Amino acid sequence: MKIKHAEIVISAVKPEQYPVDPLLPEIALAGRSNVGKSSLINMLVNMRKLARTSSSPGKTQTINFYRINQQFHFVDLPGYGYARVSKSSKEAWGKMMETYLTTRKNLYEVFQLVDIRHEPTQQDKHMYSWIKSFGYNGIVIATKLDKISRGQRQKHLNIIRKELQMTSEDLLIPVSAETREGKEQLWEVILEVFRV
Ligand code: GTP
Ligand code: MG
Repeated sequence: MKIKHAEIVISAVKPEQYPVDPLLPEIALAGRSNVGKSSLINMLVNMRKLARTSSSPGKTQTINFYRINQQFHFVDLPGYGYARVSKSSKEAWGKMMETYLTTRKNLYEVFQLVDIRHEPTQQDKHMYSWIKSFGYNGIVIATKLDKISRGQRQKHLNIIRKELQMTSEDLLIPVSAETREGKEQLWEVILEVFRV
């Protein structure tokens, strides 16, 4: 995929702020804080600083819309599972996510990101079944592939499949934002999503 143009459209907290003109097809990225959602967007568009990343969790707090080649959006969602967050902001997160996921007509697919090193958490499982219950395929991306050895990969992927109760048809794509491994395969999946 040749990236000619990529820019942030808006950091939204409420539906009135979601971009509507033009109403481009979009893919959203969900997952725990620190799993690598923002880094993945940067990797896909070959830009180091389009989406802001941080080694400490909780960096992305709003729904950030990125417009790519004037053709579609990538949507960076705020992460969950960050322990040092108040109850009220967890509730606000839930409302913001639910509103977005249930009302956004041009949302084609939600990618669920999990860290390849770790067993999916309860929240990952909830998020994944939530995504599926809204009618999305629930494509899973295993991030930070560079952090484990080649020999360990299949074992970790099997655990993710089992814990998220994925079927053999459900897509699970391992990637590294660091080495860019998996990038081409992921782009194929993205283009396939938008072709429907
Ligand atoms: P929140 O915005 O807090 O929800 O986090 P996020 O999911 O957007 O994570 P972010 O992209 O900010 O990445 C978190 C940390 O993980 C940063 O220090 C990244 O450099 C690192 N990271 C992300 N992807 C990879 C990867 O594929 N490999 C390695 N080694 N590090 C990664
Ligand atoms: Mg982020």
